[in-house]
Amino acid sequence: MNKSIKIKKIMVAILAVLVLLAGSYIGYRIVTEHQRRSRIVAAFAAEQGYDSKLNERYIAYYDSNSEVSVTELLALVNNDLDQLETGYDPRLIGFLSVEGYEKESVQRYLAYSDKTGADEETVVGLVNHDIDQTDVEYGERLIAILDDPYFLWNRVTRYCEYDAEHAGEELTARQLVERVNCNLDMIPKNGDFHADPSQGYLVLVNNYYDIADSYVPDNLVDVDKAFSSKGARMNTEAYENLVAMADAAKKVGYKVTINGDNGYRSYSYQKTVYDYYCKMLGREDGEKRAAQPGYSEHQTGLAVDLAVDKKAKGFSWLAENCYKYGYIVRYPDDKTDITGYTYERWHFRYVGAQAAEYIHETGITFDEYYAFFIEGR
Ligand code: DAL
Repeated sequence: MNKSIKIKKIMVAILAVLVLLAGSYIGYRIVTEHQRRSRIVAAFAAEQGYDSKLNERYIAYYDSNSEVSVTELLALVNNDLDQLETGYDPRLIGFLSVEGYEKESVQRYLAYSDKTGADEETVVGLVNHDIDQTDVEYGERLIAILDDPYFLWNRVTRYCEYDAEHAGEELTARQLVERVNCNLDMIPKNGDFHADPSQGYLVLVNNYYDIADSYVPDNLVDVDKAFSSKGARMNTEAYENLVAMADAAKKVGYKVTINGDNGYRSYSYQKTVYDYYCKMLGREDGEKRAAQPGYSEHQTGLAVDLAVDKKAKGFSWLAENCYKYGYIVRYPDDKTDITGYTYERWHFRYVGAQAAEYIHETGITFDEYYAFFIEGR
């Protein structure tokens, strides 16, 4: 064999070895890449909400954000947030976890967050209520309103509007929220809201929540003559608790009775009472003493006007102790602007032990209790 043929053979052999090596290397890379992708997909597949159709996007997003947890990446991809031009942003996870998050508002969330520095929950809440589109400033005042213990997200626009309209009054945030929670920004007796008897002893009837003129409670009981010689009627449970309260009062020396027959009042009876006070005091003052028919909680059978001997001391004992029997002083002295009624130390309302204790401890009105705990956010 001549020399050049020998060299050629050696060259071919070397080439074959190189091709073999390169092939093995490429094969190795394909296998390891395949294994890597399988590992990534397996990590995502172990998460709740995994969607195999999104495998390529999971992998791509993971490749550019491998320091972020798989749970978060999955949530972001599932919600198409991997498609944002802005790329990964830790705030996105915060927005996503807020109840009420709206996919189409993400850019507004980011912009409002940049502008205000507010936390994600606040940003989502305010943007969802379009506060970012108004000239309401995210500053001390709005923060105080948001921090109020009875702040309701579904009234945030109303708080802002009422605040702007009453800027001259220098209301505290608490006063402002309380007023709006009690609907003072609405027109009273306008048919906007209706009492909901299905709430049982927590039903709200006030100048904003009317009750049907035909409504008659189905659980009225005739009270004992010892309580009302005029034959009052009351809700059964409210009456049982009144009896217990009167027994306790008796033990400490106070005799409690019902003033006249002022437990349950029918719509037509309430009209008589209302007309009487309006005639006696004039309409403006009369309406601060008696509710217009259809707006009195006496029609629920859950309200009662009490009489007690040793008046000042007796009423003071009742005010201090009535919550133990599920009652509240419904129209307190310091809330006349909220309830719309002058102080009625005799008017007690049965709301059940839990609400009564809460109202006794905090001093909020039943109107606000209802807005916050029954109607909710
Ligand atoms: N006195 C209360 C406000 C009523 O008439 O219902």
